[in-house]
Amino acid sequence: MTGPTFSGDSLVVTDLHVEFSGFVAVGGVSFDAHPGEVRFLIGPNGAGKTTCIDAITGLSAATGSARLGEQELLGRPVHKIVRLGVGRTFQTASVFNELSVLQNLDIAAGRHRHWASLLRTRRGVAPSIVQALEETGLAGELATPAGILSHGQKQWLEIAMLLVQDARVLLLDEPVAGMSHDERTATGELLQRVAAKRIVLVVEHDMDFMRRYATRVTVLHQGKVLSHGTVAEVQADPKVQEVYLGTAGAATTAAMSVVPEAAAAELASSPQAAAGTQQEKGD
Ligand SMILES: Nc1ncnc2c1ncn2[C@@H]1O[C@H](COP(=O)(O)OP(=O)(O)OP(=O)(O)O)[C@@H](O)[C@H]1O
Ligand SMILES: [Mg+2]
Repeated sequence: MTGPTFSGDSLVVTDLHVEFSGFVAVGGVSFDAHPGEVRFLIGPNGAGKTTCIDAITGLSAATGSARLGEQELLGRPVHKIVRLGVGRTFQTASVFNELSVLQNLDIAAGRHRHWASLLRTRRGVAPSIVQALEETGLAGELATPAGILSHGQKQWLEIAMLLVQDARVLLLDEPVAGMSHDERTATGELLQRVAAKRIVLVVEHDMDFMRRYATRVTVLHQGKVLSHGTVAEVQADPKVQEVYLGTAGAATTAAMSVVPEAAAAELASSPQAAAGTQQEKGD
């Protein structure tokens, strides 16, 4: 490997297309994401969000283009895409429950550690792991089995695992699903910190979370881009309101039924959206 650096590179997805036995799950989706922003991909169930991530990470065959800087990702095997610095999380956390936080991070970093050494202090823990533990707020949980972490902490551990792999791109599939309010806030702040130097793309249903932390949003519906822009622009877009509130009638019933009513109501009722002002981004 030539070891190109991606510190300033963007992820540019162009005309992405994924079919499953003739069913078009993603039909010509384009979006980009830059380091320094918390980029959101939203849309009702079945819109194609996860399939986009699968395609970018090599899990689903796709046509079109997904470039990280100069590098085309489509057509490469999964492990090569990981080596280029592209990491992802899944809708259900995929940590090793029986192993400690530190062991999970060791595995992510490609290291093996004897159980006895888990009782040691941070001496002997690689600096990249110490940094990831601190960044994700898990420094006090070094020896905790991942299985007894809170739901939020498991998601943070997954993010920490991507950080120790030195991922330049983090593709996060519904990271705050099932989290408490406080965990969501902590996650949003974590993503803002992480995004300062990396590309962060968040797939999410939670409208409140999206409003608080998104810099830009792309809305997918039935495999296509419905709308994109700032939070305010997207919320004010009548096409988005149609899909989330079903004002277009029967065609959007399926979409309506899978978006939590409270989220749809929040989307429609934002005074900032009506005024077209920029949303609060947190501290
Ligand atoms: N492996 C597959 N084989 C066949 N169809 C699939 C496959 N994976 C996804 N699909 C279909 O593609 C469409 C997009 O699915 P996808 O999982 O990308 O949606 P999503 O936006 O992530 O939805 P959700 O919010 O429910 O996670 C859906 O209709 C889904 O049933
Ligand atoms: Mg999904």
